[in-house]
Amino acid sequence: DKGGWSSFMAKEVSEEPEAVANTIRGRVRDGQIVVPELDGLDELFTSITRIIVVACGTAAYAGLVGKYAIEQWARVPVDVELAHEFRYRDPVIGPDTLVVSISQSGETMDTLMAVKYARERGAKTLSICNTQGATIPRESDAIVYTHAGPEVAVASTKAFVAQITALYLFGLHLGRVRGSLPETEAAEHVRELEAIPTKIQQILDREQSRIDQFAHWMADTRSVLFLGRHVGYPIALEGALKLKELAYIHAEGFAAGELKHGPIALIEPGQPVFVIVPSPRESAELHKKVVSNIQEIRARGARVIVIAEEGDAAVLPFADEVLRIPLAGPLFEPLLAVVPLHIFAMGLSTAKGLDVDQPRNLAKSVTVE
Ligand code: F6R
Repeated sequence: DKGGWSSFMAKEVSEEPEAVANTIRGRVRDGQIVVPELDGLDELFTSITRIIVVACGTAAYAGLVGKYAIEQWARVPVDVELAHEFRYRDPVIGPDTLVVSISQSGETMDTLMAVKYARERGAKTLSICNTQGATIPRESDAIVYTHAGPEVAVASTKAFVAQITALYLFGLHLGRVRGSLPETEAAEHVRELEAIPTKIQQILDREQSRIDQFAHWMADTRSVLFLGRHVGYPIALEGALKLKELAYIHAEGFAAGELKHGPIALIEPGQPVFVIVPSPRESAELHKKVVSNIQEIRARGARVIVIAEEGDAAVLPFADEVLRIPLAGPLFEPLLAVVPLHIFAMGLSTAKGLDVDQPRNLAKSVTVE
């Protein structure tokens, strides 16, 4: 039931605030993270020397976002691997490795095979999954469910923000258990996380119709580029994937720092480029670098669409469009910056008269390798 929405995807994007809130619910006590599902695993969590995240598609991009937070809070190295690449290259894993799988459906064959492979090699496995009782969580040593609710549209949206939320809960838990994250700092991050649903709702309320309109103007666009840095980089990848899937447009996401190593050659007059701009308050140095990237592409004629925090005036002289997100700590921006990109991909697909919920050639769960 679409509940009055034009598509399941429109409904599911509108549920992004709830998906985050429901994933946090019951897992915070007195301002600290308490994940009952992880009780009894302290010894494992203090003994691991590395984490490998295995996932596919959008779930892998959630993993890339999680890497920044987990490494910062828990001081344990995190690698993110596409599940189908992981399994076929004789990875170096053992009892000191925790393999974290991320899957909305819990049935993705590539991810399932990676989990089984990791277990056979003696690694412990944790499943972050949205579907209760699915195969991947059943095959794992521990489970943290995301509570995004059923996702029907083929393209993953609310599950993505719920996956990042679950990874952050896990990262905060791990930081506490390993003694690497001071309690006051953890409490601050918990408050940040709890404020995210309201902030996502603000983006939906304030920017949705403008982004839709602007997606309609861009209906003839044949290629769109996305640039981001730090946690904005996986969001650039996610923005590009959604556009490929939903609007059948060539789209590519880059780490902004890579521009001068090649991709800048693609910039010609009129080329639309989305740029995810880090906060000038929280990450002054990165902000400056991204603004200079914007100047470089603008000088070559790019049509620049900026996603920037409210009040960031430095981007104004160089942007053709500015989409605003509320203020948040640096690690929390991806949960906000992705929302305009989901709305945009959906808007462009609709503007082209395509089926938003059932893009061609794709299935909701990929149960073959
Ligand atoms: C993108 C998308 C896919 C899935 C991927 C993994 O919008 O839907 O890239 O994210 O197939 O699926 P799950 O999370 O079910 O393992």
